[in-house]
Amino acid sequence: MDSRPIGVFDSGLGGLTAVRQLRRILPEEKIVYFGDTGRVPYGSRGRETITRYAAQGARLLLDHQVKVILSACGTVSSVAGELLEEACPCPYLEVVAPAVEAACRATRRGRIGVIATRATISSGKFQRLLQQKLPGAFLLAAPCPLFVPLVEEGHYQPGDPLVEDAMELYLSHFRQEQVDTLILGCTHYPLLAPAISAYMGDEVTLIDSGREAAEAVAALLREKELLAPTGQQGSCDCMVSDSAEGFSRLARIFLGETMEGHVSHVEPDVLESLRLTAGI
Ligand code: DGL
Repeated sequence: MDSRPIGVFDSGLGGLTAVRQLRRILPEEKIVYFGDTGRVPYGSRGRETITRYAAQGARLLLDHQVKVILSACGTVSSVAGELLEEACPCPYLEVVAPAVEAACRATRRGRIGVIATRATISSGKFQRLLQQKLPGAFLLAAPCPLFVPLVEEGHYQPGDPLVEDAMELYLSHFRQEQVDTLILGCTHYPLLAPAISAYMGDEVTLIDSGREAAEAVAALLREKELLAPTGQQGSCDCMVSDSAEGFSRLARIFLGETMEGHVSHVEPDVLESLRLTAGI
């Protein structure tokens, strides 16, 4: 038993879709979340910047005595995952591998699609893991750069004309190629799941990378006997690098519940001074 919190971080709000799943599966756990809302998006940045930001986020969480870190960001998981895993002194989990496992279990005809940010798709990590796990599968991967700003601006419901246009722009190829399983490789995308499902059709299985990662965290805590003591009051405290008020308002949408925990602001120069190791 371990009463320390689970540390979760993302470039912004998207990782809260993973927190939502963690709260559902592990209601007795304390969670400390860092959303780098002052520096979002990561998905259009280069490898070096993403790695530095990710290392600073991980250090911030480690300074809060977390027992495990979940990188609930497709971009960080794809671009800096291996490096963080090596450098973190506690167990580190990410969203790519669990989503790949789930897609390989779900696919009926071996036709798998991946949608994510530009940085995630160009890292090739989803494609590499899928090929290793299911050689010979048909894979189609493409970035959907407008999805994140649309979600952040509250446009994610089916029938919203902006959402419909974005679906047509990014997903028509996936429909033509008749993928049977589609990985939502960015933690913002689960909010768009009803619209994506309506566009792609019921027969296409959507894989929510945050949900799969939350299951992986639960399995790891069980295996390593790190679960919270029975009866512990679960909580979610957040740190953000932009305005705390703006975050709390939008967080409700991502979490599916009112933000009850404490939200604090981290100054950009404090973040910039953090190092995970001597190198990063
Ligand atoms: N959280 C990022 C991800 O899951 C999306 C937002 C961004 O580009 O930073 O890839």
